[in-house]
Amino acid sequence: MGSPLLSQKALDFCPIYSEYIQGIYKERREPPMRENHMRTWGASVAVVLAAWTASLGAEPRESRTKTTAERGRDALLGQAFAPPIVTWKAYENLWKVWGLKEKPADFDRRVRERYSLSEPPYPNKGLPMGLREASGLLGKGVGVDCMLCHASSITGQPVIGLGNSALDVQFLFDELSAAQGIPNLPITVSQARGTHEAFATTAYLFQFRNADLSLRSPVKYVLAANTCEDVPAWWLLKKKKTMYHSGGQDARSVRSIMSFMLTPFNSGRYIKSQEPTFKDIRSYLLTLRPPKYPFPIDEKKAAHGQQIFEKTCARCHGTYGPGGSYPSKVVDLNVIGTDPTLASCDIGDFAEAFRNSWFGKEKDDQGKPVSGTMNRGYQAPPLDGVWATAPYFHNGAVPTVYHVLNSKARPKVYTRSYRTDKDDYDPVKLGWKITVLKSGPDARTPAPERRKVYDAAQPGRGNGGHPFGDKLSEEERMAVIEYLKTL
Ligand code: HEC
Ligand code: HEC
Repeated sequence: MGSPLLSQKALDFCPIYSEYIQGIYKERREPPMRENHMRTWGASVAVVLAAWTASLGAEPRESRTKTTAERGRDALLGQAFAPPIVTWKAYENLWKVWGLKEKPADFDRRVRERYSLSEPPYPNKGLPMGLREASGLLGKGVGVDCMLCHASSITGQPVIGLGNSALDVQFLFDELSAAQGIPNLPITVSQARGTHEAFATTAYLFQFRNADLSLRSPVKYVLAANTCEDVPAWWLLKKKKTMYHSGGQDARSVRSIMSFMLTPFNSGRYIKSQEPTFKDIRSYLLTLRPPKYPFPIDEKKAAHGQQIFEKTCARCHGTYGPGGSYPSKVVDLNVIGTDPTLASCDIGDFAEAFRNSWFGKEKDDQGKPVSGTMNRGYQAPPLDGVWATAPYFHNGAVPTVYHVLNSKARPKVYTRSYRTDKDDYDPVKLGWKITVLKSGPDARTPAPERRKVYDAAQPGRGNGGHPFGDKLSEEERMAVIEYLKTL
């Protein structure tokens, strides 16, 4: 079956992409030649001439002057790091899965709205951010990239690095699989719209890897359930000493951000060969800045809020502006009191295998280890651009900053539009406009509709803890919110 490197058993275990199995070990450094019109003699001469002219100056000079961050941006926004999930034809036929009789004229817009994807501020072959053309041996098709989860829009503006808190990643994968006529993913990748079972997904994929990342028939690891992870904004990375919600990894780590490539259809050799590219990508991430608050700010109120913030909040979240500092503090579960599921989940076997593998053997430029630990707590994140990153906490349980700062007012069951326009934004409470519901959906509600309801009574979705704003008067709370708009 296709490659000798992947056993039938492994394939049975992870049937997704099986159509592309023959394409997976192909090195994907350069996009293959696209146009067949190059077959004509005249065009060939033009191509040779163009290449020759480029070799005389333009191209080498360009690659000399590009910074690592620029190279990283080019790779992040221009390269595919995983094979396609579906053929172009299956993608173009998604409307059939939606139950329509014919392809709607506004197909592209409907794709974006259905799964909450945005138009890209870069060329992407008509695909929304997060989807990408990729090549396998059987041809080109459509896959996903980092921007699926790490780019979104806020008040109508696309922002690279803003976590996509509206995405229904489960819906997208389920419907792409249906369009292609392949089985659904063998694991649950999301329980609530905008959140991810990222730990379980990584552990699942890691089952197929030996320590050197070569493929094997999978061994079973315990897959942590209901971790409901919100996606952190990339522009915060530059301040952090440790990253991920529980601060479990040295923030300088390049290898750990490559775990997205672990699909069994990337060879270990290919993954490892991409480390220099991901070093560049990380450099690019460090240049990102938060979007500016787009509505008016009351400066006097904000200045009052700053004083309160510095007294009440700065010891964990740091100070901002010139001379600001960030402590990169992981706060114990007993103190923070937010949902414990993620920080206390059992990932024993997987964590050990990860540590003993290529991922755990990373070194910095001085040869010192870049490693991780398990923490029973959550990192207090920097609050730059916090106005744009709702919902809040590691599990996205709290829809606005106001509700972060008033734990008793937090809605228990709610839904929202899962759109990201100006009308969907609440500039008073700072976050998403929501509709509070009386109770959660029943078992008969279709799964995509169920995922649109955030029910804090469900496992991993608790909205308690972080009581640090509760003692503020309403006037002080609103002043702190005004200040946070300036960050
Ligand atoms: C399917 C969604 C998804 C995709 C695709 C994805 N990520 Fe993530 N990423 C997440 C989630 C969820 C987290 C938070 C995990 C946690 O902390 O538990 C995260 C965390 C991160 C972080 C740490 C941020 C911080 O400050 O703690 C970095 C850096 C990162 N991802 C980079 C990448 C890169 C680079 C890619 C593409 C190769 C990528 N991610 C693809 C969902 C995704
Ligand atoms: C003892 C440390 C500590 C103090 C004091 C504290 N926080 Fe936090 N804060 C945290 C931690 C830890 C988290 C992350 C909790 C989680 O994800 O479960 C957090 C999360 C937040 C978030 C959500 C961030 C996000 O992106 O999800 C906001 C907003 C916030 N805090 C604001 C404040 C404000 C304003 C104050 C002062 C009134 C304050 N905090 C005081 C530790 C603290």
